[in-house]
Amino acid sequence: MSVETLTIPTQTVAQSRIAELDFHNIEFGKIFSDHMLVADYREGAWQTPQILPYGNMSLSPANSALHYGQSVFEGMKAYRNAESDILLFRPLDNFKRLNISAERMCIPELPEELFMQGLEQLLRLDAAWVPPTAGCALYLRPFIFATDEFIGVRPSSNYRFVVFTCPVGAYYGQPLRVAIEPNYVRSAEGGAGYAKAAGNYGAALYPARQMQEKGYHQLIWTDAREHKYIEESGTMNVMFVIDGVLVTPAVSTTILSGITRKSVLQLARDKGIPVEERKVAVDEIVAAHKAGKLQEAFGTGTAATIAQIATIHYKGEDLELPALEGRTVSNGIAAELDQIKTGQIPDRHNWNYKISL
Ligand code: COI
Repeated sequence: MSVETLTIPTQTVAQSRIAELDFHNIEFGKIFSDHMLVADYREGAWQTPQILPYGNMSLSPANSALHYGQSVFEGMKAYRNAESDILLFRPLDNFKRLNISAERMCIPELPEELFMQGLEQLLRLDAAWVPPTAGCALYLRPFIFATDEFIGVRPSSNYRFVVFTCPVGAYYGQPLRVAIEPNYVRSAEGGAGYAKAAGNYGAALYPARQMQEKGYHQLIWTDAREHKYIEESGTMNVMFVIDGVLVTPAVSTTILSGITRKSVLQLARDKGIPVEERKVAVDEIVAAHKAGKLQEAFGTGTAATIAQIATIHYKGEDLELPALEGRTVSNGIAAELDQIKTGQIPDRHNWNYKISL
């Protein structure tokens, strides 16, 4: 397949569903735009993609992804600027991470042109679905899964790459109550924790549900060896402001390298805020709280954006954090990041990929 001048065969919907969408009341992840991009991998090569009406796909009951979890995904967002162009936030970073995840799961590398041109043509077609509303975005969900009809355990020979999109509002509608997980493990050294692999999320559901039943929204995972160091939260990386310093666990093979995470750290450094990427002990967070030095805690993620943490539970105690209004570091960075993504201020790091309509 020559992807340099990729012409994507497109089958459009007879009738758009966009009239059913209330742009001022969008729930996360439940409404899907009209079209999707689909490309298959067979006979050792990615085939010409297609754009099709969003809809169900038929699968063999022996589909190997369903049985053994050979499936990886990404989450990214597109916004509108004042000129009504579409601004896609850091898509090449998502592309690179998708291939890092794919490699870990023995899934063949996806060509950049297929990803970028596929996204661009899909977004041009469904441009009307990019919300003009503040605080909303078009969420893109690229994913690749195995499609062999075979139940022996081995890497599949066939795969499908799909991108669908959905207009979204906030993922978390309120400040979070999180609990530090002292027993279960999300990821261990040598495992696949750095990959955005479907199974990482499935395996986290049971421990998360235990805590949700006790009134917490999310877990904060700790390291697999000692449960001593903080890793990440269910859908986001985590950051703390301790005595004016922005502290976050360094990325490693057990932590997902978040794109919002690195954007937040860059903006903090630009503002001259001291940043430390290192091991963060649970005891340090508890001690900082006791000493009145834990000023802010928040999660960062594409879906979550910057999600404030109100309460941290650890070993029977709820640590209540300072009020949201005084959180100058995270509030300041959140506002600036939002302005960059929506083109209200200069994009000095060239993060936006502009699609002019
Ligand atoms: C994202 O932030 O895009 C994610 O993939 C997290 C979650 C919704 C699974």
